[in-house]
Parts: sequence; C-alpha cells; structure tokens
Amino acid sequence: MKMIFRLLLILIISALTFSCAEKKIQSNSEEKADSLLALMTLREKIGQLTLYTSDWDVTGPTMRKGYQNDIKNGDVGAIFNAIGSAYTRQLQELAVENTRLKIPLLFGYDVIHGHRTIFPIPLAESCSWDLELMQRSARIAAEEATAEGLHWTFAPMVDIARDPRWGRVMEGAGEDTYLGSQIAAARVKGFQGENLNDINTMLACVKHFAAYGAAQAGRDYHTVDMSDRVLRETYLPPYKAALDAGAATVMTSFNEIHGEPASGSQYLLTDILRKEWGFDGFVVTDYTSIMEMLYHGVVADTTAAAALAINAGVDMDMQAGFFQDKLEQLVKEGKVSEARINEAAKRILKLKFDLGLFDDPYKYCDTAREKAVVMNEKFLIEAKENAKRSIVLLKNQDKVLPINKNIKTLAVVGPMAHARKDLIGSWSAAGDWKKAVTLLEGIQQTVSPSTKVLYAKGSPLMADSTQYFADAIAKAKQAEAIVLAVGEASWMSGEAASRTNIQLPLIQKKLMEEILKLNKPTVLIVMNGRPLDLSFEDKHFKAILETWFLGTQAGPAIAEVLFGDYNPSGKLTMTFPRSLGQVPIYYSMKNTGRPYESDPNNKYVSKYIDESNYPLYPFGHGLSYTSFSYTKPFLDKTVISPKDTLTVTCTITNIGDRPGEEIVQLYLRDLVGSVTRPIKELKGFKKVNLAVGESKVVSFKVTVEDLKFYTKEMKFSYEPGDFEVFVGGDSNTQNKILFSLKTD
Ligand code: NOJ
Repeated sequence: MKMIFRLLLILIISALTFSCAEKKIQSNSEEKADSLLALMTLREKIGQLTLYTSDWDVTGPTMRKGYQNDIKNGDVGAIFNAIGSAYTRQLQELAVENTRLKIPLLFGYDVIHGHRTIFPIPLAESCSWDLELMQRSARIAAEEATAEGLHWTFAPMVDIARDPRWGRVMEGAGEDTYLGSQIAAARVKGFQGENLNDINTMLACVKHFAAYGAAQAGRDYHTVDMSDRVLRETYLPPYKAALDAGAATVMTSFNEIHGEPASGSQYLLTDILRKEWGFDGFVVTDYTSIMEMLYHGVVADTTAAAALAINAGVDMDMQAGFFQDKLEQLVKEGKVSEARINEAAKRILKLKFDLGLFDDPYKYCDTAREKAVVMNEKFLIEAKENAKRSIVLLKNQDKVLPINKNIKTLAVVGPMAHARKDLIGSWSAAGDWKKAVTLLEGIQQTVSPSTKVLYAKGSPLMADSTQYFADAIAKAKQAEAIVLAVGEASWMSGEAASRTNIQLPLIQKKLMEEILKLNKPTVLIVMNGRPLDLSFEDKHFKAILETWFLGTQAGPAIAEVLFGDYNPSGKLTMTFPRSLGQVPIYYSMKNTGRPYESDPNNKYVSKYIDESNYPLYPFGHGLSYTSFSYTKPFLDKTVISPKDTLTVTCTITNIGDRPGEEIVQLYLRDLVGSVTRPIKELKGFKKVNLAVGESKVVSFKVTVEDLKFYTKEMKFSYEPGDFEVFVGGDSNTQNKILFSLKTD
C-alpha cells in the first residue's frame, strides 16, 4: 500500500514537473535537472548514463542488439548513428511514449567535416589557417545535422598529431598546439552557435581526451607514454581551448597514458578536467572503451571496469553496456556512490534541457526543415570556397602553374583524376560520395570551350596492374600539358588506418615514371589524408598541388586553382618528412646538446648518416602564384617588463605579378630557460591580401602570456631572459630580432 502511494505521488509530481517544463515556469536547466533527478529511480538514472549505436551505421567493432527495447525500458539515454528526421522521431517516440518519465533521447553522430554537404577533411581545412572559414563549415554541418534530428556531434577532434603513420591525422588540425587550440575553439563555436536552445545548434564533443594522437609508432589505439610536461605543454591546450569556447561534452580516448587507460584515469577526468579546468558538461567514453580496460589489463572483470570508469569521472558509457549491467549492483554494494550517479545523470539531463528537448522532444525532427536545409545551394558554394582555401601549392618551379585556360589539349590522367568515392575522405558522416564532383568534371567545367580534355585512368590506386598505362601515355602524348592526379584511397586514412609506408602506392610511382618520360609540362595533384613522403615526386615534378580530400566540391575547387581563377594560399599544418625514418618530425623540436647547425662537418652532431635533418616541406609551407617579401621584424621596444605589450611589425610586399594572400606567421624562441625550450613556437598568424606591388604592415602583440611555459617546478609561468621573434612565411624562417624580458 505504502509502495503504491509513493508511486502515485511520484507520478503526480512528475506530471506537474513536465507541465511546468512545458510552460517554461522553471527558470534554468540546472534546477530543472535537479527536480527531475529527484523523481528518478536509480535504474532510470543509470539509463541516462548509457549510449548505444543504432543499426543505421557502424562506427565500431561491436553491435548491441535490441537497443529498441533498451529505449522502451528507459535503459538508454542517448543513441548514436541514427539520423534523419523520420528515423530519429521514430526512436524518440519509443522513449517518450514508453518510459515513465518521458525523458527524451539525445542523438549523437560523427559530424566531422560536414554532414551531407561534405567539406575538406579537417587536416585539409586547417591548412587554410582561416578560423572564420572553419567556424562556418562547422556551423553549416550543424545546420544540416540538426535538420536531420541530431543534437550532438562527436567533434571537434583536437588531438595534436605528429606522426603521419597514424591514419587519424586527417581528422585533426595538425601538429601545432597554438594553431590547434585556435581551430578547436572555432569549430566548437561553429557547432554550438550562440545558444544551444536554437534549432540549428548542437552539442560539441571535444575528443579524444587525452593525447590520442601520440600513439606509439603511429599505430592506432597504441600506447601513449609521455611526461606530464609534454602532456600539459603540447597536448592538453587544444582540449582546454575547446572547453573555454564552451564545448559541452568531452570524449575519452582509447589509449593509455601514464599507465592508465584514459577511461579509467581519475587524473585526467577528475583532477584535470573538473578540478583544474572546472568543466561542467558530461564525459562520454569512446566506443566500448570501458570494456577495453579488460584488455588493457587494469581490471579483471566487467564489474571492476564499470566501477573504475564511473569513479574516475566517466558520465556516459558508449557501447560497452557495462554501466547498464553493473552500476545498480555497484551502488548497492557501496562501491559506487549514488551521489556520483546523480552527478553524472544531472550533467546529461541539464544539457537535454539546454537543447530544449523537454519542451519539445521532436523539435529536431521536422521533415520540412530537413528538406529545405540539407545540401542547400548556399552550402555548396561555401564548400567550394573552403576547398579552394585548403589547397597547398607545394612546388611550382618555372611557373608551370597556373595552366592557361585556352590550352588546346590537356591530358587529365591518374587514378584520382576521375575518382569520386574517395573525394569525400574518411569520416564523411552521412555524405553521399555520388554527389561529389570529380577533378575531371571540375576541369571540364572550367576550361575554355575550345580546349580538348583527354582523360585516362592511368593506373589503379593500389593493384599492381599496368593495363591502363598505354591509354594514358597515348593521351598524354597528344596533350600540351598534363594534369596527373595520384593519391591514397580514402580508406587509407581515418580510424584504424595506420600505415608503415607513407609513400604513394608503387603502381602510381610506375605511372609517374612513364608520364615523366614524355617530358611535358606536368602538374602533379596529390589527394591524401596524411603527410606523405613525396621525395620522389618533389625530385621529378616541377609543380605539385597538395589537395587532400576536399569533399563534395573538390573538382571545381582544384580546377579554379589549376587555371589561376584562385591563387592558392594554404599552408601546411603538418610537416612533410623526406622519409619515414625522420618521423616524428615537427618544427618545434628541441635544439639538443649537439645541434647539427653548430658544426655540420662534425661527425658527432645530432643527425642521420643517410638523410638530412630537414623536412621536405616544413610546417607553415605553402606557395602562391605570386611572391612576397618580408622586411626584418621591427619592435616598438627591445626590453619589456611583464606588464608590457610588445608590438612586432613587419612589412609584407607582393613582389609578384598577381594579387595574392599570404599567411604571415610569428614564432618565438626562448633562448635560455630553467628547462629546455623548443627552437621555435608559433604564437601568432595573420592573413593578408595584397594587390600587385602592394605593401602592408602586419603587426602582432606579444605579452608574457606568450612566453609562459611549464618551468622546472612545473609552474606555468614566464622567466626573464632573451627571446627571438621570427616573422615569416613558414616555420623555416630566419627573419628574426631579439628582445628581452626583465622582471625586476
Ligand atoms: C570511435 C572513434 O574513435 C570516435 O572518434 C567516434 O566518435 C566513435 N567511434 C563513434 O563513432
């Protein structure tokens, strides 16, 4: 009798709460989450902590059957890999109509570089160094994704990546902490917009916390082992920047670090994330990560794995099902406190309130809106703009590029010349590769009507077959110039796509050799998801365009660059090595006690006996069809105190014969520290547009904030001393001047 009375009371209160929520009587999400929590059973709370994939898409190794029943029973709070206004409505109805408290589901998905309209892969886009552009592409992705019922993207991926063997370098912003942090913030702002309650904004999820990009030997999911200094100085700042920009959620990483799997690391998930950074959103694991702690060998059974994860600070279990299976028992046994469950559930509920899901669970399931928004013409225009700006001109000897639009005969050759499927790259969400425009099509749309375009596949991407060679050679022979498009297949980068060989496949090399024999003006176009060893290509081709995987509008964007309608301005955000033996190689390395430059003729300096120390193309490298000159940097003072702002100026002039855009980069070097300091660190950049002959003064502000690092005592602070400031067009620049910081 007592039980029945209690149940009735709960139902009445719950009905009241919901009518209140509908009338927006309760003022904020936090209070709403608290009052809802007060009505929930332990099992219902645990349900909120559970995330399962639907069977619409597969992004991991296991599938849990019967998620529909889990939804009906209130055992799941969020679903991923279910998209479309109709399908998400159907699943939402299951939750809202069948569960006691009618708590709506949260729908997540990997909206990484566009949703339906596919933008360049994130590594490519980062080469634009254009924060507004990146914010806009994330905004458009959110527009489309929310119109298809989604509330939550598993992006941005902000893992610093310095090993091109790792396939997931394509998904981040490259090797640099400063640039990566700015890009992380821009992408979060794009996804989340001004207000989470808006119909076109979604929760961002910064991932993979932490240091997933430092997998040993570039092998995905492999061990990460680094000092706390490196972790804090190099790897953590982009996650922090994303959170400072308001990222609502965090995803743990698969790797171990400091001997602990990230999903069981109290150090990462509680000490750093909550206590040091004050993060108040929720933490979700990566796919089955809680289960994987068994393989890591830090727990002996599923119960211990669930306890370790929740007590470390995980709020939501993606796909392991261990929270669902084990948490109730763990709370009863006192091994997990109910307070911890409440805390996690409240964080999730609060965001559901923020999104407005309690006001209208079907808010994002509007079929008419879906039709109007998805792949809107405006988005395609933006995708092309974005793609153009992501292209990096690696080499252009003798001005082979741009090609004259009125050329009589142009051969367009190579396995990527008319490839469509690969153009959208890995992690292309719900993108439809059939809608991508190929390079050949882009060229045909752009050249003059009188130009004869001869297409030949040339070779397969990988298979060792020369069957297409003869056709390609015959067509190339007839042409005045050749565009040779080579690359990696899109599946060769992304998750679980590490390589031990970062050269182009052998058959493509053979094709290149055949084409080179013709001795004609040839432009090499490289489409790929990681920095490659292009030493062979650099040696033999006069013009090389790094186009990455540029998405839906790849073809027209590349064509604009090829024919000079757009003057390329992208700059690399990851170093291109000369050979795999140099990896890891990045611009901000330490000097060592025996730097090569100190005595290049000495045997006993830090070098290789069979390879240069220097990369093929450094971080920040990227050419234009025009060229720029830089004056020596000028300082408004040569000695600063901690209160001062130093102004660094430099005059950049367009000394070439066409207008162009330059990405001006500022680097600092701390000459003496209590601990060793990198030989250069990016601390600022500006994009400047210059007409022919035009000069502009570019100025940067430097404060002690830019000079801070983790000192010998692991204090994030500055130290007095001398610094070099460099201003130039890539990280190799030696255009520098000295200043000092005085602290007394
Ligand atoms: C595993 C990936 O590591 C992660 O980035 C992704 O968000 C999840 N799978 C969900 O698809």
